[in-house]
Amino acid sequence: MCGIIGYVGPQDAGKVVISGLKRLEYRGYDSAGIALQNVQQPELLVVRTAGKVTELEIELDARQPLFSTGTAIGHTRWATHGEPTRENAHPHSSSSGNIVVAHNGIIDNYLVIKQLLQGQGIEFTSETDTEVIAHLIEHYYEGELSEAVGRALQQLEGTYGLMVMSALHPNMLVTARNGSPIVVGICDGETVIASDVSAVVSHTKQVIYLDDGDLLTTTSDGVSITSLRNLPVARDAIEIDWDIEAIEKGGFEHFMRKEIHEQPTALQNTLRGRLDFSSSSTKLSGMQMGPTKLADIDRIMVAACGTSLYAGMVGKHLFEDFTGIPTDILHAAEFRDHNPIVQRGTCMLAISQSGETADTLGAVRECLRKGAQVLGICNVVGSTIAREAGKGVYLHAGPEIGVASTKAFTSQVAVLAMMAILLGRSRRLSADSGQRMIDELSRLPELAQAVLDQEDEIAGIAAKYARAEHAFFLGRGYMYPAALEGALKLKELSYIHAEGYHAAELKHGPIALLTEQVPVIVIAPDSSGKSRTLANIQECKARKAPVIAIVTEGERDINGLVDDVISIPHCEEFIAAIPAVIAEQLFAYHIARERGCEIDQPRNLAKAVTVE
Ligand code: G6P
Repeated sequence: MCGIIGYVGPQDAGKVVISGLKRLEYRGYDSAGIALQNVQQPELLVVRTAGKVTELEIELDARQPLFSTGTAIGHTRWATHGEPTRENAHPHSSSSGNIVVAHNGIIDNYLVIKQLLQGQGIEFTSETDTEVIAHLIEHYYEGELSEAVGRALQQLEGTYGLMVMSALHPNMLVTARNGSPIVVGICDGETVIASDVSAVVSHTKQVIYLDDGDLLTTTSDGVSITSLRNLPVARDAIEIDWDIEAIEKGGFEHFMRKEIHEQPTALQNTLRGRLDFSSSSTKLSGMQMGPTKLADIDRIMVAACGTSLYAGMVGKHLFEDFTGIPTDILHAAEFRDHNPIVQRGTCMLAISQSGETADTLGAVRECLRKGAQVLGICNVVGSTIAREAGKGVYLHAGPEIGVASTKAFTSQVAVLAMMAILLGRSRRLSADSGQRMIDELSRLPELAQAVLDQEDEIAGIAAKYARAEHAFFLGRGYMYPAALEGALKLKELSYIHAEGYHAAELKHGPIALLTEQVPVIVIAPDSSGKSRTLANIQECKARKAPVIAIVTEGERDINGLVDDVISIPHCEEFIAAIPAVIAEQLFAYHIARERGCEIDQPRNLAKAVTVE
């Protein structure tokens, strides 16, 4: 949530920061700002705008020629404290204007500090929590910038990934992390620091992830890391394993459509080297669990948010069907809002594409504290959840830039299916059944492609329903999470009010809302509950609601019953959510396109939600 970037080096820092902000914009996009250092005179130029980075760029172009600079920080915001106005946009300045701060996170005790500073006569110009940081650093400043930052941060409670620049310290940035990610790109003669690697990878693939409590000082001579109390700290550099092309649109109109189409390859990468035909099982070495540890698991708890939570719900079916291990699904925030029972033998799965979602991270910490085994299922290598869990399974789906998650969901389900096979084989799953399941998993790329090949037909159906204002998605069993995910995709992309329901629940209330203007998307491929779901279609038709059925190709029982049909290829029920959700992704994408929506950056959303 919120993107921040800083640069120190020989290039035009304004240009580097603006292009980095464009890469980070998916983290938040309601306002943006930049601060540049003038190397000729001790002064800073701060430019801020409501709206997107392109608007900031226009304003900067008009003013920057006055400034010659090799140091800058930038910010793109997802508002928490105060509306998305120019005044609330970052960077925020101290009273003298000598210190500027860009911040990702939330300062919990900002009101107390604000009152204290106001008592000393300091005037505030924004409603943000961030502004206190700039004033507090100035308050502690006695000639050493990093020391002042360290002292100020010791007063703060909350989360931050922040960057500080001072007019009095040309070519210097001070950066700190507590709870919000910071990645440092190590290049020859220049340094790029950002809230995620997408803004760094065009400069270098060698990066250092800061840990909580780290304070990084960057000058033209390089970087040094200390604790807030100025004790030296050593952090290893790691290599990013993907290229800049992975975060380009590559000829597609939107990142989302590109990522939908990447799914056959993403699934291939998720499965690569993990299907073990010789043991009719799977190999997931990142779980770091041998047969004894696997056998010790007697309960699974899934913590996740959004789309990842729905993948986890598919996981519950997989674990209970194939391993017999009772599985609970929890909204990640519930791990702290409620007090779930975590016992010896509990294995917690933290599912998070970004690996940075605050509520999921909070759940990880809570479970580690209670002594549970915690496994991260993350896409972003080196992300906080992956590191704090210490073990788990990476998706290897490649970077996901579109704010609405697509390929992460299908790779998450593939990982959960592989985990279910591994755990199942350590229990009641026979070699024959294990073999049948891994054979089926190996078909996933081809199944995904078969759905993508029908994009034109799905786009045609989407065009028919693009003016709807309400919609329902129904499913049962493995298809219930698919219904929830279909509704989520449609509402976040197209702003159509969409609800996902268990097919059997429709008649317990929501059926009152059905009219001929409310399409119902029913997900009913070959499965144990199919006949009951088909009966639910009859109930919708009796209320004149148009029905779009997502069914297995060749399905005859719906002939004449539904208005439109989307076919998915034959596959076993345990993986049918993958092709079904790909069909829903295309449906939602094309409806949003018809409606002229901002597909990659829907209103009010952000890709990585790093606030609770
Ligand atoms: C945000 C995104 C969703 C995502 C959710 C969880 O709300 O907009 O697309 O599913 O966060 O993200 P995570 O990175 O933890 O999977």
